[in-house]
Amino acid sequence: MISATLLSLAFATSVSAHGYATVPSSRTRLGFEAGIDTCPECTILEPVDAWPTLEGVPVGRMGVCGYNQRVSVDYNFPGSDWGTETVATYAPGEVVEVQWCVDNNGDHGGMFSYRVCQDQAVVDKFLTAGYEPTEAEKNAAQDCFDRGLLPCTDVEGQQCDYSPDCAEGEACWDNTWFTCNKFEGGDGTRGCQGVDGAPLNSCATTIAGGYTVTKKVKIPEYTSNHTLLQFVWNSFQTPQIYISCADIAIQ
Ligand SMILES: *[C@@H]1O[C@H](CO)[C@@H](O)[C@H](O)[C@H]1NC(C)=O
Repeated sequence: MISATLLSLAFATSVSAHGYATVPSSRTRLGFEAGIDTCPECTILEPVDAWPTLEGVPVGRMGVCGYNQRVSVDYNFPGSDWGTETVATYAPGEVVEVQWCVDNNGDHGGMFSYRVCQDQAVVDKFLTAGYEPTEAEKNAAQDCFDRGLLPCTDVEGQQCDYSPDCAEGEACWDNTWFTCNKFEGGDGTRGCQGVDGAPLNSCATTIAGGYTVTKKVKIPEYTSNHTLLQFVWNSFQTPQIYISCADIAIQ
């Protein structure tokens, strides 16, 4: 009890609002719109080595869909307002627009990516009402999602830059991921908000207003009537990784 209280205090004081996936509607967005999640941008895996190595961090309790410790909402299994129905249907090989929302007060820069795990049995653990995946299942699922990264470079004509905050030779020197702009760039063009350069409140956050971050991904040549599109953002500034997922069909 005491340690849980201390933990929540630690989170309460360290939080400064950050980001979550919005298009297609992530479970986090659905939880926010249902009034269940009062800080959708606060689903954070921390403290972890998020930079310059991008992958290999066990997701643990955070899972592949995110556990918002700040408001105690777990997105790794279906809830009253998410997880039982798909929110979008795509065709195998289709190029689709995806979007997330970064908070004005927590634009930590860095890199982000989207993934599809092509193993239905692994994904099914996160689609079953009343079943809470174990931490081992969560970590194994993340390995599958890591293998299913949807490369920026698979979308014809899409510009895939290297992170200006990463040095050549570092693990973050990888343009299959998407990059935010330079963390210490100019107003309006810096960090993740600079990717779209959209106005404040172009998407909804709860702390300081959000900016959209929009890219395109190519849906894999794979079919499923219900699977998950995972969003992962590795912060450059802070030892944090942000995770959301959306329920989609690929037919
Ligand atoms: C999706 O559902 C339809 C109708 O039930 C079924 O015929 C089809 O085989 C399913 N597709 C996959 C990939 O499971």
